[in-house]
Amino acid sequence: MIRIKKFTALLLGAFLLLTGCKEQSLSDISIYENKADSILKLMTLDEKIGQVSLFTSDWSTTGPSMRKDYIDLIKQGKAGNIFNAYTVDYVRELQRFAVEETRLHIPLLFGYDVIHGHRTIFPIPLGQASSWDTAAIEKAERIAATEATAEGLNWTFAPMVDLARDPRWGRVMEGAGEDTWLAGLIAAARVRGFQGLDLSDKRSVLACVKHFAAYGAPQGGRDYHTVDMSERSLYEWYLPPYKAAVDAGVASVMTSFNEIAGVPSTSNKWLLTDLLRNDWKFKGFIVTDYSSINELINHGVARDLSEAASISINAGVDMDMQGSAFISQLSDLVKSGKVTEETLDNAVKRILIAKYKLGLFDDPYKNCDKKRETEEIMTPEFLAFAREFVAKSCVLLKNENKILPVPENIRSIAVIGPLADSKPDMLGFWSAAGQWEKCVSLLEGIRNRVGGSVNILTAKGCNVNDENTEGIDQAVSLARRSDYVILALGESSMMSGEASSRTDISLPGVQLRLAEAIIKTGKPVAVVLFNGRPLAIPELDKLAPAILETWFGGTQAGNGIADVLFGDVNPSGKLTMTFPRNAGQVPIFYNSKNTGRPINPQNPYEKYKSNYLDSPNTPLYPFGYGLSYTSFKYSGITLNKTEFQKDDQIIVSVEITNTGDRDGEEIVQLYVRDLVGDVTRPVKELKGFRKVMIEKGNTVNVAFTISPADLSYYHKDMSFTFDPGEFELFIGPNSSEGNSVSFLLL
Ligand code: NOJ
Repeated sequence: MIRIKKFTALLLGAFLLLTGCKEQSLSDISIYENKADSILKLMTLDEKIGQVSLFTSDWSTTGPSMRKDYIDLIKQGKAGNIFNAYTVDYVRELQRFAVEETRLHIPLLFGYDVIHGHRTIFPIPLGQASSWDTAAIEKAERIAATEATAEGLNWTFAPMVDLARDPRWGRVMEGAGEDTWLAGLIAAARVRGFQGLDLSDKRSVLACVKHFAAYGAPQGGRDYHTVDMSERSLYEWYLPPYKAAVDAGVASVMTSFNEIAGVPSTSNKWLLTDLLRNDWKFKGFIVTDYSSINELINHGVARDLSEAASISINAGVDMDMQGSAFISQLSDLVKSGKVTEETLDNAVKRILIAKYKLGLFDDPYKNCDKKRETEEIMTPEFLAFAREFVAKSCVLLKNENKILPVPENIRSIAVIGPLADSKPDMLGFWSAAGQWEKCVSLLEGIRNRVGGSVNILTAKGCNVNDENTEGIDQAVSLARRSDYVILALGESSMMSGEASSRTDISLPGVQLRLAEAIIKTGKPVAVVLFNGRPLAIPELDKLAPAILETWFGGTQAGNGIADVLFGDVNPSGKLTMTFPRNAGQVPIFYNSKNTGRPINPQNPYEKYKSNYLDSPNTPLYPFGYGLSYTSFKYSGITLNKTEFQKDDQIIVSVEITNTGDRDGEEIVQLYVRDLVGDVTRPVKELKGFRKVMIEKGNTVNVAFTISPADLSYYHKDMSFTFDPGEFELFIGPNSSEGNSVSFLLL
């Protein structure tokens, strides 16, 4: 510690000398920039290259482990940043090598994939998004940041904001779904949650928005595959969530593995420099995804690693994740002039500034507090919130004859299915330092809820994903002996996430056969679904009287789901990604275009219309859909005027009555359609929502304000503006239902 203080004083001296300023006269210039400049001037080429290199500690990896010698590299000042290393002891040890054994004592960044919680694991992000509750999402990230920093981390590789319209792609679990506007709100909430009000706060981490850009649109839904889309789609749908994160002050950006229009993101100067830095004014640093500089060779845009390193840093990349490209190539590239020292300096500077903002130069061990590590992990408060969040994320897809909630008078319940008592699957993919042993399975959650008063029987029935039907008979006999069946079906957690694309997105294995056999018993059956993507489950939808979508709920999954199953919480989640009837409809999303030959709703199979021979166009469950244990009635829509000028706004309102027998929350959604545009416009676009609690029998008035800015889009010349003319406005419980009115923008 003494050495660090000495060093800080030395740096300050050097800084004052070099800038020729007194510290107090710096009010107009960035203090951090000057501090970073002052260190830069002391750095050797190798030390600079160390700062732009990031290596995994080998604790957990998602790609080839290229270096085992990261500790030596830290000691030599050649590894300025580490990921996949946490716990106070380990971080302290590695940080000590950096600040006490290297010449310039520059502290390390410690990154990790804290995607939906660090130790207390929350529902997967797609599940969180189903809550439409940005305050809850922000709070979850605040807790995640608190736990992550209590275990030494100072940087998370989140939020992932890749817009996705293809559920075959396994990483849809990590995003917010298919709507760009909602995804932008969620992206900003996540950044605020992670970074807090001030990065120097000991409970704040640097956020990293990823994967820039358009990683969520790989051809065929196959992970890492080519992305090719129009400039319009890119600007209109795919870029805004990243932009929202940038506008919220995200400290770092991760490049994506894919190419866009033939140029891989990691070597895309237009994307990283012209757009991100120059147009969007992003001031933080850009890190690659795992070895994606090396992958430029496979993409076929670089002959060798030297060229790959050169084109990526020249495109705007600041830090190489795990590829060893910068560490092995930059020295020669700088010496030969292929990369200017100024380019490297700028990259180093941005990283040093992040370290300053975190306060690491003042206290490199700021996140190495043993007391916090024991006191601020999985606290009762965090767990209680996690449980609440599970319930908020659940989406009731079907509930015929009020099968749910489970009636009070039930004396025995059979909890059946391959996911009935699985703890590991509750975590979901990307579960950071979450421990599956600490998860509450569905069975445990149900037991916790009912105590000794109800007899609980259980059987697996079958596995998630094989052809073995041997267990079905026993499960059926158990169901016969029970008053009520809860059937836990779906995917295992490893069937979604990175490198987990599927061509068949139906219920895997023989689970449908299990469901058929159980439902045939005539017992009341509620299906609890676990999955990381929308599934194509038309048969199950037909068979099962009740289906509750629960995603992967994390640490408190079982308790939170039980709260919903037994009616302690009335479900209010709504889908943020369309559930198709079959994979052949994919990509299917609510905000599609009308086409020149729209389907004839009266005759959906009419020839020479935009339809299929063998499937309706409509999804199984649309975007925005979700039921409640109560019912809501929407009144007609009232507008305060039907025409308005371009600097005016209109107020639109609707009355919603809770017509059922319990209090409930409703997510009221507002969509707009521009009837005649400069270019074709979607049949509906989400422009607003409100989540309102309505007591049974009560009516609430929900009002929205629409201004011309809400109606703007990219015109033929790519100007972002609105059209005068007629618009249709819809308010309803989801993207397929509701009332509509028209208005004119003059
Ligand atoms: C690869 C993934 O694409 C990225 O999202 C993640 O942050 C890195 N691996 C590091 O684990």
